[in-house]
Amino acid sequence: MPIAYREEDRTFHLQTPASSYIMRVEKGGYLAHLYWGRRLGENAYANPSVYWGRSSISPTPLPGEPTIRLDTLPQEYPSYGTGDFRHPAYQARLENGSTAGELVYHSHRIFPGKPPLEGLPATYVEADKEASTLEIELKDSVAGLTVMLSYTVFEQQDAITRSVRFLNEGGQPLRLWRALSMSVDFAHSDFDMIRLPGSWARERDVVRTPLGGGMQSIESRRGVSSHTMNPFLCLASRGAGEDHGEVYGFSLVYSGSFAAFAEVDQFRTTRVSMGINPFDFEWKLDPGAAFQTPEVVAVFSAEGLGGMSRTYHRLYRSRLCRGNYRDAERPIKVNNWEATYFRFDDRKLEEIADAAAEAGIELFVLDDGWFGRRNDDKSSLGDWFVNREKLRGGLEGLAASLNRKGLKFGLWFEPEMVSPDSELYRKHPDWCLHVPGRRRTLGRNQLILDYSREDVCEEILRMLTAILESAPIEYVKWDFNRNMTEIGSELLPAERQRETAHRYMLGLYRVLERLVSRFPHILFESCAGGGGRFDPGMLYYMPQTWTSDNTDAVSRLRIQYGTSLVYPPCSMGAHVSAVPNHQVGRVTPLASRGHVAMSGILGYELDLSSLSGEEKDMIKKQAALYKEIRPLIQYGDFYRILNPFEGTEASWMFVDANRSRAVFVYANSLLEGGQPIRFVRLKGLDPRRQYRIEETGTIHGGDELMFGGVQLPRLKGDYPSLLWRLTAVNQG
Ligand code: DGJ
Repeated sequence: MPIAYREEDRTFHLQTPASSYIMRVEKGGYLAHLYWGRRLGENAYANPSVYWGRSSISPTPLPGEPTIRLDTLPQEYPSYGTGDFRHPAYQARLENGSTAGELVYHSHRIFPGKPPLEGLPATYVEADKEASTLEIELKDSVAGLTVMLSYTVFEQQDAITRSVRFLNEGGQPLRLWRALSMSVDFAHSDFDMIRLPGSWARERDVVRTPLGGGMQSIESRRGVSSHTMNPFLCLASRGAGEDHGEVYGFSLVYSGSFAAFAEVDQFRTTRVSMGINPFDFEWKLDPGAAFQTPEVVAVFSAEGLGGMSRTYHRLYRSRLCRGNYRDAERPIKVNNWEATYFRFDDRKLEEIADAAAEAGIELFVLDDGWFGRRNDDKSSLGDWFVNREKLRGGLEGLAASLNRKGLKFGLWFEPEMVSPDSELYRKHPDWCLHVPGRRRTLGRNQLILDYSREDVCEEILRMLTAILESAPIEYVKWDFNRNMTEIGSELLPAERQRETAHRYMLGLYRVLERLVSRFPHILFESCAGGGGRFDPGMLYYMPQTWTSDNTDAVSRLRIQYGTSLVYPPCSMGAHVSAVPNHQVGRVTPLASRGHVAMSGILGYELDLSSLSGEEKDMIKKQAALYKEIRPLIQYGDFYRILNPFEGTEASWMFVDANRSRAVFVYANSLLEGGQPIRFVRLKGLDPRRQYRIEETGTIHGGDELMFGGVQLPRLKGDYPSLLWRLTAVNQG
């Protein structure tokens, strides 16, 4: 069991294969954090957790115990108002108006397995032996509040998950003003903070800055995890890099507004906490009621960012993603969005489909515009019935014809939205998020349906089910194209209005759970104006996400690189599109567009029927190549080599589990004159084996390729790239 409890000094020791996490119940019952880092022996930790008594500005909760000061004690789940002035993990308002709190240890239990989180997405186990869970009950007897901290340790992964359950065991209602999923204190602040900010069409930039005194935080207030900040934070020891050094990752399994804080206090310790954004959040907890927070997946790696990412990738692709497609090869798709936008009919679609089938593409996705009277983005969201003027044979007719060509059929929806110009809105104007007396602010001419309401969710489910049952639909793209405003619900009382945003997420998760269970054969891809909801919460229901609306190959180098910090390549939708690119106007070679898109889940998003014979030929070759390397790309280990945020080059590799096959990708977004002879050091190979590079026919030692590097050929032109396959030729 990787969780041990030592009664003599009331110490908990959680062990992953390469890390240890240690806590102790201190005098007064305070749960203190002692250590998190490289794995220690089971009985190894003897340092005291109590920090010295400091100045009088830090109060002493226990009379006669000057060394216990909540303001300096490293804590596992800190309260507010009773001596700790740092950032609290939770705050509850009592009926008497007070908001001070204090939690002390009450009990704990350790058991095999990992229970699911009620109503929320979470990592899971398939057998109890895969993980152990520790639940620690803390109590605030004045408030009548029980707080249950939950820790799961995976046997095979260097990951610990944390979540919290609040229980009102008193006789009066409590109001949770803040209910974060975790908090952890580090004894120093020699860290850089890495985060993934961005925007629409420029998602997940990698930004690294040194931690300094005071509060550093990231958040989304948009009702979704957002384009502008991903629910992920990393503390990297100074000097830690891609392949070495200690790093700590925090990833929140949630799709709504979130926040994460890194506070460096007066004594240069660091407190990190993360969870639902406390801004504009409140939850009324009636006597007997419970509140469950989402989960944070915390990863320690002593092998730099690369080690951290590979842990996230393995865990998320195998124990967060679910369903028939979790381990199955994902089809190559063609999507008609950038090919036609709203201007299509069945003849045009058939033309694209014919060219797709000829190229070896496997799935045809019909994007926005097939329903209601939707010929632009001004109407019809919510009217989920087929437009027979555009599709004369209906969805069944189109699906049958695609199937005859050997293509699967997939369909776009935006089921959380309603257009004011729609039958649904005219019938139910109160079904959208809104607040009395205020404007209903439009975004892309649409409003957001109130998924905190059960009746709304049921009706949407009914409509979607009818469509999905009406034709052989084998893929769904689930879009979401605006952020939330006027977040209020018609059905909630005034005192619960600030629950709306989280209730919305719970409603969405309920709908998704019902859909994916009802249609297990459908491959779901989530999308929010591109990567506006690329988060672990959505991955639990849909194993892939449309990474960005920006399909330009050069922009994608950064977007996919940044995304890969947390999310595996098998979760990233990546399409080859037309040039000049529709988002940035750049003209890149078809080969480079292919290499970048082949680094994720390959698709095409252009009018294949209008291409030259030469281009069609190249796409056919790309599809064939992708089918050959697909298992490696989708399920191999991913190594980042050259960082496009630091220069004009980007490079990465995919290596299979037994290191016998690999794919190396290199791209350069600005060649210079006087190019140096360029060697790129590969990663993840077996140094004792020999590898043949299929594209050059040369054979090299794994040691040569990793320690000396592979020599690049002389590259010319705009935005050149390479994709090389490596095959081991001996057993090593
Ligand atoms: C935004 C998506 O990201 C695009 O791929 C496309 O589906 C449009 N919405 C359709 O409206």
